[in-house]
Amino acid sequence: MPNNRLYRLTSTKLSTTMVISVIKAIRLLSFVILTPVFMSGCDVDSSTTISASADEQDLRLLLDLPDHMPIPAIPDFNPLTQEKITLGRFLFYETKLSANQTQSCGSCHFQTDAFADGIATPTGSTGHVLARNSQGLSNVAYNASFTWSNDTFVELEDQLNVPIRADDPIELGVTDAELATVLTRFDEDEEYQQLFKAAFPNSEKSSETGVTMNKVIFSLASFVRTMISANSPYDEFLQGDKEALTAQQKQGFNLFNGEKFECFHCHTGVNFTVSYKDANTLTGSLVFPFFNNGLYNVNDDGSYPEVDQGIYDLSGDPADKGKFRPPSLRNIELTAPYMHDGSIGTLREVVEHYARGGTLTTSGINAGDGKNNPYKSSFIPGFDATDEEIDAVVAFLESLTDYDFVNNEKFSNPHEDH
Ligand code: HEC
Ligand code: HEC
Repeated sequence: MPNNRLYRLTSTKLSTTMVISVIKAIRLLSFVILTPVFMSGCDVDSSTTISASADEQDLRLLLDLPDHMPIPAIPDFNPLTQEKITLGRFLFYETKLSANQTQSCGSCHFQTDAFADGIATPTGSTGHVLARNSQGLSNVAYNASFTWSNDTFVELEDQLNVPIRADDPIELGVTDAELATVLTRFDEDEEYQQLFKAAFPNSEKSSETGVTMNKVIFSLASFVRTMISANSPYDEFLQGDKEALTAQQKQGFNLFNGEKFECFHCHTGVNFTVSYKDANTLTGSLVFPFFNNGLYNVNDDGSYPEVDQGIYDLSGDPADKGKFRPPSLRNIELTAPYMHDGSIGTLREVVEHYARGGTLTTSGINAGDGKNNPYKSSFIPGFDATDEEIDAVVAFLESLTDYDFVNNEKFSNPHEDH
């Protein structure tokens, strides 16, 4: 298929970009080592103008980014500062941010589950059951687009309006009617007054004084961008510890990147997805890939369940039926159940789905054989795999689990500290 060929080329391009990023990262690292005194005295403030390399250096420190990870793209309109990150962390776990004060972001994104929630699809603050599975939030900063399937959310700031503001289905339920009430809760809270002032010191001079939804969203986006996971056994292996992966995991890594399993065509690079960008990605090479991986074939006409057909629901083009963004596989062991609707329970079953070349639904309104879905990517033809090979790929996927990430206090609920 022409589409797939395009992405094959793209992934080659991406890996070149990544190699360049790693080289740059090594250069930048020597900068840190040589200039510790200057850096530690450097106050991080978005209004300070600093040279480009010092700017990148600040970002590396703020994000606690190891040298093998490229610098993520941070939009110019929302520079990253420690103060916004701090406020964002408070807001992420704040139930005052839902209209009826029952839910926060943390109600569907648990740190112990790498910020997924362990269930197929969650329920919003007023009882609406959502159609999609809560996504894990590891390394979200590197995604080219956001959510399971939407090519219009290209910045986190666009996407975050949805859980907060949407009225169908309701998540946090801050609809137009509720907006003023919710913002007043923060305006009247002394601790938040201080946090907002520190995060947006210049807004006193503008018309945007006090708490606004933009400030809430900019801070949450800043916090989410710091959720970098780069300390798994696989990362230790990348950094030169050849013993960090078991023999079985190394076998799985080779299968994952080989032409029989073909996983790497869609799950590649530091974040294991071709939906990728970083600070060095050129605008012209940025792509928003979406694929049908044969999960359904309702009525044998290529449809997915009515409730969610991926990009097709936005474009109306039948060829887009069932197309979703290849998710990052970071911490994938912790984010079960899998796929956009949480319909596959275990990693082994996911690999079996690919080996079969699609999922067979035998009964019910969604019956059909995904293997024969006409819109399925040609990278998912199905293949013969032994149990031992499947176990090896699962073991490799488990080497992407980063316990530092799920235990890191920087991402924990700050309201429980005091
Ligand atoms: C009711 C449960 C629920 C709540 C509350 C919730 N989320 Fe989510 N989150 C989801 C689901 C489900 C998705 C997938 C949405 C989709 O694909 O349309 C998601 C997706 C995301 C994504 C996209 C990740 C990616 O890789 O593209 C981010 C970021 C995110 N949520 C952050 C937040 C933040 C921040 C909050 C609080 C303001 C929040 N969520 C509140 C369930 C929830
Ligand atoms: C043609 C692109 C493509 C190929 C090849 C591919 N995947 Fe995927 N992968 C996807 C897409 C798209 C999704 C999400 C599909 C959905 O939710 O409907 C996905 C989902 C997954 C998930 C679940 C992620 C989550 O957060 O729930 C895992 C695990 C996974 N793939 C592993 C693999 C493995 C292992 C292979 C090789 C055997 C592979 N993939 C091959 C595109 C691909």
